Amino acid sequence: MDAFQIRGGRALRGEVTISGSKNAALPIMAAALLTREPCVIRRVPNLSDVQFMGDILRSLGAKVEFSGDTVTIEARDIQEFGDYELIRKMRASVCIMGPLLARLRRARVSLPGGCVIGARPIDLHLKGLRMLGAKFNIRGGYVVGSTPALSGAEVFLGGRVGPTVLGTANIMMAATLAQGVTIIESAACEPEVVDLAKFLTSMGARIQGAGSPTLTITGMPELRGAEHDVIPDRIEAATFAIAAAVTKGSLVLKGARADHMGAILDKLREAGVSIRRQGNDLAVERSRRRLRPVDITTQPYAGFPTDVQAQMMVLMLQVPGISVITERIFESRFMHVPELCRLGAQISIEGPSAIVKGGEPLSGAPVMASDLRASAALVLAGLAAEGVTTVKRVYHLDRGYERMDEKLRAVGARIERIPE
Ligand code: EPU
Repeated sequence: MDAFQIRGGRALRGEVTISGSKNAALPIMAAALLTREPCVIRRVPNLSDVQFMGDILRSLGAKVEFSGDTVTIEARDIQEFGDYELIRKMRASVCIMGPLLARLRRARVSLPGGCVIGARPIDLHLKGLRMLGAKFNIRGGYVVGSTPALSGAEVFLGGRVGPTVLGTANIMMAATLAQGVTIIESAACEPEVVDLAKFLTSMGARIQGAGSPTLTITGMPELRGAEHDVIPDRIEAATFAIAAAVTKGSLVLKGARADHMGAILDKLREAGVSIRRQGNDLAVERSRRRLRPVDITTQPYAGFPTDVQAQMMVLMLQVPGISVITERIFESRFMHVPELCRLGAQISIEGPSAIVKGGEPLSGAPVMASDLRASAALVLAGLAAEGVTTVKRVYHLDRGYERMDEKLRAVGARIERIPE
């Protein structure tokens, strides 16, 4: 296992190229199961989660070849039996279920393991697929699905806390090959869902309403191979924007899509961070003015994303005053709080809210990464802290940030990858 050793206190300056989006790439790779023809997907980030998805598709019989940031997937002859352990390790693998049911009328997916950011059930995925005509039972730790044929239906996908991102992806993919028309109400509107819809459309699918809560999908007898460029990762871009702000630096985020980052940029500006569009890039700078505390509540898109909650908390630690950060998407997504407190942060948790008392200097310490975005927050805190911070278990970061240490080093951070 690797750790990051960070000597904080240095302002970051320069340019960072934003990688393709992990959360768009994973379901798009699964969508290649919907056709026998080859699919070419570009701007795929080199991450362990993406490699996992490649291995899962291989275990189903697909040919998967990576070359630079391009992956070619040919799912000519596939079976519904994938590698149990691989599928169990990564929650995003649940989105092979819709394509397998649509293509083979059978699917077998191991139940996603317990996860530190909450229970993360898949009831809405199963509900939607049942409405299209699938039946499920649990056998030997697998969810086993089958159907004589999928047919279009009206599916309401709203859950306890709103829409589901991968659930919407799963039902949308299944519906592209179902007989007749499917209408998904309370669909997720995230840019990653829109990107998947764009890829499916270039495969020959008929989808209307992507990016809105109502999706209408007209099933086709078959889909063809297609090429696609994955959208830039808005969560990576937000993380680097906050890195500039917490180190009192300035960064140009090459290729960051401001139109996917409305709520994030709005909160950063409200806090006093300067953000300017420069052509296709975003220039982020911490202005000389004192920053202001802001309150944040995570919501489904276009609200403030849960995947940036932990990083934003680190920025609020720099700001004198009290800010309240409320997590509404996942019930236990404050694993970073006790670790931030080791660095001297003053944060208390009251129900779904973290009360952050900012303005006290952070001082480096050994900390432990728990999930992907919590780990990113610890790296940001290490960059802002005085002294040395060691972030252990950075394999969590490698799941979702492409070469984060190298990208940070290139803009002046003192960060080393060391064996733990
Ligand atoms: N939910 C249910 N039942 C379901 C599905 C979801 O109750 O069947 C609940 C969840 O427990 C949660 C809420 O609905 O409370 C929203 O979960 P959602 O299904 O939208 O999450 P997801 O699709 O599993 C994706 C991202 C996450 C991101 C969430 C929310 C991928 C691969 N993952 O997960 O990304 O936090 O949407 O935006 O796209 C990350 O990148 O660090 C990450 C965790």
